[in-house]
Amino acid sequence: MCGIVGYVGSRKARPILMSGLKRLEYRGYDSAGIALLTDTGLMLSRSVGKIVNLEAVLGDQKLDSCHGIAHTRWATHGEPNETNAHPHIDNKHEIALVHNGIIENYRALREFLTRKGVVFHTQTDTEVLVHLIAFSYTGDLTKAVRLALTQVEGTYGIAVVSVRHPGTIIAARMGSPLVVGLGNNENFVASDVSAMLEHTNRVVYLEDGEIATVTADDYKVTTIQNVEITPPISEISWSLDEIEKGGFDHFMLKEIHEQPDTLRNAIRGRLNHEDGVARLNGLNLQIEELRGINRILLTACGTSWHAAMIGKYMIEEIARIPTEVEYASEFRYRSPIVDENTVLFAISQSGETADTLAAMREARNRGATVLGLVNVVGSTIARESDGGVYLHAGPEIGVASTKAFTAQVIVLSLAANLLARMRQWSSQQGHEMIHAIEEIPSKIEQILANEDLIKEIAHRYYKANNFLYLGRGINFPVALEGALKLKEISYIHAEGYPAAEMKHGPIALIDENMPVVVIALEGPIYGKVMSNIAEIKARQGHVIAIATEGDKEIADRADHVIYIPKTYRLLTPLLSVVPLQLLAYHIAVMRGCHVDQPRNLAKSVTVE
Ligand code: AGP
Repeated sequence: MCGIVGYVGSRKARPILMSGLKRLEYRGYDSAGIALLTDTGLMLSRSVGKIVNLEAVLGDQKLDSCHGIAHTRWATHGEPNETNAHPHIDNKHEIALVHNGIIENYRALREFLTRKGVVFHTQTDTEVLVHLIAFSYTGDLTKAVRLALTQVEGTYGIAVVSVRHPGTIIAARMGSPLVVGLGNNENFVASDVSAMLEHTNRVVYLEDGEIATVTADDYKVTTIQNVEITPPISEISWSLDEIEKGGFDHFMLKEIHEQPDTLRNAIRGRLNHEDGVARLNGLNLQIEELRGINRILLTACGTSWHAAMIGKYMIEEIARIPTEVEYASEFRYRSPIVDENTVLFAISQSGETADTLAAMREARNRGATVLGLVNVVGSTIARESDGGVYLHAGPEIGVASTKAFTAQVIVLSLAANLLARMRQWSSQQGHEMIHAIEEIPSKIEQILANEDLIKEIAHRYYKANNFLYLGRGINFPVALEGALKLKEISYIHAEGYPAAEMKHGPIALIDENMPVVVIALEGPIYGKVMSNIAEIKARQGHVIAIATEGDKEIADRADHVIYIPKTYRLLTPLLSVVPLQLLAYHIAVMRGCHVDQPRNLAKSVTVE
């Protein structure tokens, strides 16, 4: 996630800005930059990689500036490199801007500004903002920012400085947090309070649609309609450690709770409501090519492989294209049957998993079109793919993947919708799915609100030595994912199985010491799952059921029921996985495990 820091006051700005960026490192980033207002104009330094590289670029320059902005970038549009790093500046080198968020209509704005003679230097969406402000500037910087932002669609948290307005920072927010810090004869702007807490605990949180004009000894807040307002001043009592986790005890829990927002980001700008079809321009495939695909391979590892399994069910059911799921580590070493009519999707949060990268290269060598579904922009898999889709889930700090998994699944649902609509699916069918996709984030919020019940169930079973997870159909891979979540952070042995497979062996494990999580949602095979539950209960097993809201029958059959809202059947994994994420998390915490960095695990397995 990008980080913003701004300072204006009587002290040297460079050390304050750089220490502020360091406080934001936990958010994850791939480049950094700083702009200082000096007597000779704007001093701009940017670097790819860690902040230490930016420090090296700055060197021991004596920079007396007391006014500037700085940024850590998590790339969403444009490679992570020095050119694309923020701050961005206008063609006259008078205005500098840093931005968190996504400008959805940046292409149209870029074309408009180019026609007006603006010269662009980066691949980013952000650059249109600084040129639009410069284009709108007639002497009042706040007004220019306001005029520019009224033309913007998307999300932003920005900080802007100009050589024509020494001692002033303009900050504005729409969908990406921004806060003003109030010091003694100095003021701050940042994307979160951790960047300023060592200097002040008095802050003003900007709300969406608000613009702040900040100087060393004053600040003024207006709405984007230029109505002056007086937001309350808050006093921060959190510790820095609490703040980095957003008040959650662990990054994993924070990321589980972020899922409504990260899924909104994953689908933002990708739903064509008029035609009931997903928009995935990054695939770089023409309609004829999309229609011509007659075989799909999905390859990944771990949790991403579970997402691939769900993708198979979606694509085969609605697009009717034969889809195979391959463990990347297996695919790369066998002699796979691949030709120029094969499309391979490499699915990866990090975009650096060695086995997945190798499998993608193997498929390409055999003539396949290779596409990447990755979270990290500019990662190796992203760069080596013929096209792809970014997950926009933001950096995932917890080793156990949660928000990246649901982002992968929702992007796969978009891909399935697109492929189906390029074939036999009607716009009506497309509309129904697109509408259901849009409702998913708020349905996850409903599930998260029920966390206390899940915590109680975790407390009942956290001492178990084994768990069984059962699911059927498109929720079978969710059973696998739930088992993986539990084993990797709590170290309890857990297995996922197709529910019907239980009688072919695993039922021998069932006794009063075996908790069994059963995903028992309403649907064509609900009755079969109920039979599986009866078989478990007949052997004194304990059943924790994930069930559909309104299902009255299940409460008499299972020991515990966690309800999830109804949704489009192919989208149920996006909901059924959330209770399993929370169950694993709370059990691991109760067992005293290191949830964010489980033993023996790495966030990205870049070696074989
Ligand atoms: C999931 O919780 C694990 N951290 C692990 O299985 C992970 O999904 C796997 O290593 C693949 O990583 P990737 O998505 O970055 O390729």
